[in-house]
Amino acid sequence: MSLSAPSAEIPITVADWASQVQLNLPAGVPVQVESAAAAFVLQWGLCDQNAPNARPRADSYQLSYAMDAWQLFPPAQRDGLGKHPLWVDFVHNPRFAQTLLLREPLAKAAGLRANQRPLVIDLTAGLGRDTWALASTGCPVLAFERHPLVHFLLNDGLLRARAHPKTRAIAERITLHRGDARQYEGAFIDQNNAIINPIWLVDPMFPERQKSALVKKDMRIFHQLVGEDLDASALFNWARTQSGTRWIVKRPPQAPALNEESPALVITSGRVRFDCYLPVAVSARK
Ligand SMILES: C[S@@+](CC[C@H](N)C(=O)[O-])C[C@H]1O[C@@H](n2cnc3c(N)ncnc32)[C@H](O)[C@@H]1O
Repeated sequence: MSLSAPSAEIPITVADWASQVQLNLPAGVPVQVESAAAAFVLQWGLCDQNAPNARPRADSYQLSYAMDAWQLFPPAQRDGLGKHPLWVDFVHNPRFAQTLLLREPLAKAAGLRANQRPLVIDLTAGLGRDTWALASTGCPVLAFERHPLVHFLLNDGLLRARAHPKTRAIAERITLHRGDARQYEGAFIDQNNAIINPIWLVDPMFPERQKSALVKKDMRIFHQLVGEDLDASALFNWARTQSGTRWIVKRPPQAPALNEESPALVITSGRVRFDCYLPVAVSARK
């Protein structure tokens, strides 16, 4: 399916991130990288560390281009975030080397069966892990990410994955949009103007756990940057008004459900719980 222009502008209420990030573009990068960086700096008012009179700040994140990829380095002055960058690498990161199996919790939550690869709409793409896992099974995925920097990193990872023969087929199943899917209300139709019946996935940010030693440092960077998604219930309630075959909400095991409705199925696995909802008429009959 393809999306038409947004029908309404949804204000992007993400924390003030741009003032905390400096761009660091080494000399000699390809022209297209340089122009993408310039456009990003201009659009979001980032400080370009290499601009005249600018100087590196120890309390800022550094968005750098290294090893042919965009990487976000934590501030030198911030304890607990380590030194390693946050970036998206579908090509070399071993966690993306395996295809999601139908017996795994996410595939079960999505209700995937052999020979059935429905469209998935991932409303909260983040760093694209779930999107990638579902696309690895053969599902086309339409993914939305509203945080401009998270979208930038994920888009960069997808571009590299599309350019590599090992990951191209999966990456080509993924269409990423920056923004909130609610902007596109009324536009979820296929090329023949038929209403589509996708699987909807919502995985909002949840407050970081107390025992943060268990959280990997790159994920701490991600949490610090994005914060909590306080409008997650509204997003899920909106998704429930759309046509679909299943709605999956990913939560920590102890977290409350996103709305009053009881899920038709709950799958808990380790540190994750999937609340699965069926179309309203079907679940009402159950
Ligand atoms: C917990 S992360 C998702 C992680 C993702 N499932 C993965 O596998 O990498 C939540 C992400 O959803 C994004 N988000 C939250 N609400 C959103 C919305 N209404 N529209 C688009 N993106 C949203 C946040 O910016 C954040 O990057």
